Amino acid sequence: MTSPRTQLSEAELLARIGRITWFHSLRLRPGIVTPGAKSEAVLAREEEALLGPFDLRGRSVLDIGAWNGAFSFAALRRGAARVLATDEFAWTHPVYRGRESFELAAAELGLEVEMLQVDPTRMDASLGRFDLVLFLGVFYHLFDPIDVLQRMRALTRQVLLVETHQDALEHAAPRMVFYPGRTLANDDTNWWGPNPPLMLHLLRQLGFARIYYRDHPHYYPAEGNRLRGIFAAILPEAEPAMRANFGTEWRDLDAPGAMADFRP
Ligand SMILES: C[S@@+](CC[C@H](N)C(=O)[O-])C[C@H]1O[C@@H](n2cnc3c(N)ncnc32)[C@H](O)[C@@H]1O
Repeated sequence: MTSPRTQLSEAELLARIGRITWFHSLRLRPGIVTPGAKSEAVLAREEEALLGPFDLRGRSVLDIGAWNGAFSFAALRRGAARVLATDEFAWTHPVYRGRESFELAAAELGLEVEMLQVDPTRMDASLGRFDLVLFLGVFYHLFDPIDVLQRMRALTRQVLLVETHQDALEHAAPRMVFYPGRTLANDDTNWWGPNPPLMLHLLRQLGFARIYYRDHPHYYPAEGNRLRGIFAAILPEAEPAMRANFGTEWRDLDAPGAMADFRP
């Protein structure tokens, strides 16, 4: 899986890094870390929270909205046999230059990751099915997230992992808040804030047999509320190694009382 790093000199590598606006802080060489909005420490906590429950050895992984590639690279390092990274928005963005960033990082790290430039609204079962589908930080960016969640279901062989911004936590019933224009974080690509009951019922409706939830390790409780959550949706046919290792941070949403303390 690993091969020699690129032949770029340190100055050339730094110049190429400097042309890109990074989201992930990736250590490409000793002493050279990309200046991402997410620090190395935050990414390490996220990686453990997201991927820790799964034995990825020999598995196939699909990373939707991979951006600079932190979670695609992490899945490969954790033994995945095949990782397909997809993105379009950030990969074609003139400032983020995401595709260039991903290719540069993968080459520097000597990791072989398949790449497909496609928007999640156009993905369907013709891409095949993957043991683990990573749908991280994308749901709330979509104008029609339910259509895309159905597409993600069709691509899932065992587990769909959804990480999302959340809202309407004061409601016990399923709710999703709509953000017109720039009303969420002054970002016009943010559309929706679901609450956990909404995600639970949507995922159930799509045929997932068990849904586990945990608070995001960085955004909660650091920011004082349940601003982001992680849902692991397990298909009935999932193998034990993909559904048996959820630690105490995770709750089985079918367990008695599991939904009781979502409200502040
Ligand atoms: C918050 S980043 C998450 C990146 C990475 N998955 C992570 O969790 O660190 C959002 C991702 O969603 C994609 N994205 C943003 N807006 C989008 C949109 N309107 N349609 C499709 N994808 C979008 C971006 O390209 C980016 O890769």
